[in-house]
Amino acid sequence: MKPFLEVKNLFVSFPTEDGVVRASDDISFSVSRGETLAVVGESGSGKSVTTLAVMGLHNRKRTNISGHAILNLPTGPVDTISAPEETVRKLRGKSMAMIFQDPMSALHPYYSIGNQITEAWSLYNDGSKADGTKRAIELLDLVGIPGAAKRVEEYPHQFSGGMRQRVMIAMALVNNPSLLIADEPTTALDVTIQSQILQLLRDMQKEFNMAVVLITHDLGVVAEVADRVCVMYAGKIVEQAKIDELYYRPDHPYTLGLLNSIPRVDRGGDQRLQAIPGQPPSLISLPQGCSFRPRCAHSKLVPNNRCATDVPELYEKTEAHGSRCHLTESQLVQIRTSAGGHS
Ligand SMILES: Nc1ncnc2c1ncn2[C@@H]1O[C@H](COP(=O)(O)OP(=O)(O)O)[C@@H](O)[C@H]1O
Ligand code: SF4
Ligand SMILES: [Mg+2]
Repeated sequence: MKPFLEVKNLFVSFPTEDGVVRASDDISFSVSRGETLAVVGESGSGKSVTTLAVMGLHNRKRTNISGHAILNLPTGPVDTISAPEETVRKLRGKSMAMIFQDPMSALHPYYSIGNQITEAWSLYNDGSKADGTKRAIELLDLVGIPGAAKRVEEYPHQFSGGMRQRVMIAMALVNNPSLLIADEPTTALDVTIQSQILQLLRDMQKEFNMAVVLITHDLGVVAEVADRVCVMYAGKIVEQAKIDELYYRPDHPYTLGLLNSIPRVDRGGDQRLQAIPGQPPSLISLPQGCSFRPRCAHSKLVPNNRCATDVPELYEKTEAHGSRCHLTESQLVQIRTSAGGHS
């Protein structure tokens, strides 16, 4: 069966006074129903821009977008990049839904939670207000809000951060979407609540057989919830792999850097955690060659200074594991081993 979402050669850029911001640069990935794909990268790497393009949420007049984002619906494929805006609008909420880092900005402060969920429901369902409220309570219950029948009448400010994020998840799920995009849904929450929300997303993904795209800047949070990972750097996917492959056999120095900056239980007490030195480049004037070169500790291993001149192609070692780097496999094995335990 085809993946539910197929993103192919997606480019998104913004013309600005300072120059063209190339935020998504030849992005391709896919995600099937029943699967969670994590998109990981530092702030500003193009994660949100990419997924907002899939959702059709960019202003088409002020954004240059090309490529494809195909939803394989039961009625046939629809490309959300080229389909009329009206068609894409009708898919939002129903076939694809999105949740964001800050539920307060997405929830209306003056309407009760129940009202807001019922309104989202009534866009696609004929039924009485009582039917809508019943559905809202059902979902609040499902996402683990205690006393849902009572709390449905409360307002956003009466909920804690974690509970508000649960409300947002309930609202996103109200019309049974096939694809859920969660953009840093736990960044604002403390660690314990973070893992509860991620677990909830995992449970909901199973319950609704959804395709889930989970965006995060923290590779540490995805191990338990994602099936596959795309690592983004400066607008490009630099590595994609199944989660275990990525953790134990990372192929890109940037991924290695991210892994070395998170604590790992399998490494015992002596953990010298290192943040990657330096900053990502400006997306208006990328360095020539590999965008990661100014921060990469291994570019001198590549002959003829190629890292400074040639943009690495996405090399697919296997169908499921690709990376953009000029290093050879044997060089990578050495680097992984010295980085601590990978082989
Ligand atoms: N509407 C816009 N106009 C100009 N630049 C934008 C716009 N939206 C995002 N950007 C830029 O695109 C880059 C990628 O942003 P984004 O996708 O939000 O990053 P993140 O990976 O943190 O989600 C950033 O440099 C951001 O400033
Ligand atoms: S291509 Fe060169 S600079 Fe880029 S990640 Fe690989 S070794 Fe580092
Ligand atoms: Mg973002």
